[in-house]
Amino acid sequence: MSPRTPVARIAATSRYLPERVLTNADLEDMVDTSDAWIRERTGIRERRIADDDTGAAAMGAQAACGALQKAGLSARDVDLLIVSTATPDRLLPTTSCAIQAMIGASRCFAYDLQAACTGFLYALTMAEGQIASGRAENVLIVSTEKMSTIVDWDDRATCILFGDGAGAAVVQPSTNGEGILSSYHSSDGSLAELITRPAGGAALALTPERLRRREHMLQMSGPAVFKAAVKAMAGASAKAMQAAGLEADDIDLLVPHQANARIIEATARYARVPMDRVFVNLHRYGNISSATIPVGLDEAVEQGRIGPGSHILMAAFGAGLTWGAMAMRW
Ligand code: ACO
Repeated sequence: MSPRTPVARIAATSRYLPERVLTNADLEDMVDTSDAWIRERTGIRERRIADDDTGAAAMGAQAACGALQKAGLSARDVDLLIVSTATPDRLLPTTSCAIQAMIGASRCFAYDLQAACTGFLYALTMAEGQIASGRAENVLIVSTEKMSTIVDWDDRATCILFGDGAGAAVVQPSTNGEGILSSYHSSDGSLAELITRPAGGAALALTPERLRRREHMLQMSGPAVFKAAVKAMAGASAKAMQAAGLEADDIDLLVPHQANARIIEATARYARVPMDRVFVNLHRYGNISSATIPVGLDEAVEQGRIGPGSHILMAAFGAGLTWGAMAMRW
């Protein structure tokens, strides 16, 4: 397959992380765990937690405004707003419409996309398609997650992993060959039970009994998810690189979903990208679900690790199961 000519590029990124820091030492006071166990098994040292009155839309709006400003756009220039979130402020209406109203993006159409931790990559593909069809020129993607509201704070196997935050990207038509070179996405709904919030939707309405059993909280089979994540992210990365005509040596930076340092290291090993060309910030933020990649891109640009012409590879994995990878020339 010959590499395709890019039609869409990321023109600007931004991020919002709440100020409040929850350290591993803080978690030692909440559940039976230790800083050493968390660092050794996950690589996480601390995560950010949003205030009670700051929802996913409020965090997303902050990130959105930053990205628009860097792109030199006003909110009224946005044609399409896609919000990826696993933690919508309400079940109805969407978080994207809430963000639309908050930032004044009055000309766009807006929708939510739910693909758990893979949401940003799926959203980029949706944006690329709308740009290719000529339906949109300025697409704003916001990935915003308030994981602290769905985590069971009594479950030491999951509550240590997650944090809150938001990332945003402005996607526009490519001009000089920069942009998305390839993407590979997949999902497998037969493995839904590996990461799930069983109750609270249309299938299992909330009842006092289900609330008591915490069935509305995130449940995860950690070791099974771990194995599936490595296989999926490594496989998708290989396919995306091949479709883009890139070898591991061509990749200037791998920006993987930040769930566990050992998953990142294994993915990089399979992709043959050395760790000094892998972006890692999960020690500071934990797993912010779909926000990890846009937050990572924004920090990497700020640190000078991504610049014009850089070849980057992104790979993600999450509940669904969903996964994917994308190669891009910046
Ligand atoms: N502190 C201390 N001990 C713990 C903790 C903790 N926080 N959590 C679990 N343990 C114990 C377990 O009880 C178990 O004890 P036992 O041997 O006496 O039974 C032991 O540690 C080992 O537990 P495992 O679950 O086998 O530990 P593992 O090395 O697999 O690490 C982890 C667990 C970190 C969750 C890992 O499996 C993982 O990262 N999985 C992937 C998670 C992921 O990628 N999620 C992404 C998708 S999330 C989304 O889409 C929203």
